[in-house]
Amino acid sequence: MSRIPLIAGNWKMNNTKRETLDFLSSFLPKVENITIEMAICPPFTDLYAAAEKLKGTKVKLGAQNMHWEETGAFTGEVSPLMLKEIPCDYVIIGHSERRQYFAETDETVNKKIKSAIKHNIAPIVCVGESLAQREEGITIDFVMTQVENALKDIKPEDAKKIVFAYEPIWAIGTGKTASASDAQEVIGAIRNKIEKLYNKDVAEDVRILYGGSVKPENIKELMAEADIDGALVGGASLKPDSFYALCSFNL
Ligand code: PGA
Repeated sequence: MSRIPLIAGNWKMNNTKRETLDFLSSFLPKVENITIEMAICPPFTDLYAAAEKLKGTKVKLGAQNMHWEETGAFTGEVSPLMLKEIPCDYVIIGHSERRQYFAETDETVNKKIKSAIKHNIAPIVCVGESLAQREEGITIDFVMTQVENALKDIKPEDAKKIVFAYEPIWAIGTGKTASASDAQEVIGAIRNKIEKLYNKDVAEDVRILYGGSVKPENIKELMAEADIDGALVGGASLKPDSFYALCSFNL
């Protein structure tokens, strides 16, 4: 098993270009000893400046969304060609906030994943249940359907390039983290599902992150679980000190 852990910061609609550059001025000098993969996903307007500053460093760059088409009459949207030229290594696809506020569906998520892979940008694909679904006892069924729909018509060699992020909606920004064993239960089920859809080789290569109120205080416990390969972090990724504390969890 050779999955390299990934800690990715999802900054959501936070940080101007100036604030992003200030974050990096303080964060970058610290990262020399970090052994895992790190990525920041700032707003679109900060990406170019961030990419220039990240050149030659170990920190990767991601966007928070993209359209699946390369060009066209889609006012307000950003295409994979634009992200590739920045260049972005990652793009978050299907975050629950996009599904909830911007009408993203399993179908648009699938189109975006295919487009990202075609343009050599690794998609970080978010799945996760609501509180009502958890209380109803349908978490596993619901998340497995999201995973299956996300992977529709995607070839095994492409599926390996996807990073999944299991983010229970009730744990996002609420301070409520899923317990490490609850997170492992769903993430283990996602890996089994990938094995059923493809094979063991693909299932062992795909990285699956946990997201939802991840903090320096709970990262170690989460990372100790067999199938959890890292974290997608919102609030705690916005300050250089706490993001560094997360990325250095194993030092
Ligand atoms: P949070 O957000 O860490 O602030 O809970 C995680 C996410 O939405 O990706």
